[in-house]
Amino acid sequence: TTPLVIAIDGPAAAGKGTLSRQIAETYGFQHLDTGLTYRAAAKALLDRGLPLNDEGIAEKMARDVELAGLDREILSAHAIGEAASKIAVMPAVRRALVEAQQAFSKRKPGTVLDGRDIGTVVCPDAPVKLYVTASPEVRARRRYDEIVGRGDAANFDEIFADVRKRDERDMGRADSPLKPAKDAHLLDTSEMGIEAAFQAAKAIIDAAL
Ligand code: C5P
Repeated sequence: TTPLVIAIDGPAAAGKGTLSRQIAETYGFQHLDTGLTYRAAAKALLDRGLPLNDEGIAEKMARDVELAGLDREILSAHAIGEAASKIAVMPAVRRALVEAQQAFSKRKPGTVLDGRDIGTVVCPDAPVKLYVTASPEVRARRRYDEIVGRGDAANFDEIFADVRKRDERDMGRADSPLKPAKDAHLLDTSEMGIEAAFQAAKAIIDAAL
């Protein structure tokens, strides 16, 4: 039997992560947040003081990423996300990580993969594709609330500018730009809470499977 993949793509801070974890749990599927693979390769470069603009070196770090060792807490730092989006423009880095992600998707009968290019590049044959978005203002607001909620200081204008910059880099790159697959279901969560977004996603998945 071919493994069944639910592909979830969308911009930074759209709520993909929470949604993907809920979906994986509900359907009993394994889950990989592919952003963590780009973050892990970026962190390996940062930790070693290596340049972020050398494709050969970045590819080597990407090939060494261990999927079993990906820790969301450790990889969540803002600087790591920034560095990740810089090396994510490099074709050799993408090739290495996409191969690892595709191998992961074949390990179990059911998989949720979330990222930027799952429905377009990593698993173009996935039977269910969701493209999860929200307006840049809403995404910046959610990130702001999250930071302030943990008791840290945050500046909304800075966060908003960051969200726009990340969108530009992810949507504007030549290799695997962020965009909805032709057969993706669009889910705009701007006006939805977490539970409503989950119910909407579940209805789409149940209708497709
Ligand atoms: O989703 P997250 O913010 O953790 O991803 C970090 C960066 O990794 C993104 O801004 C994007 O540039 C890159 N990425 C990617 N393709 C994916 C997942 C993430 O290019 N499938």
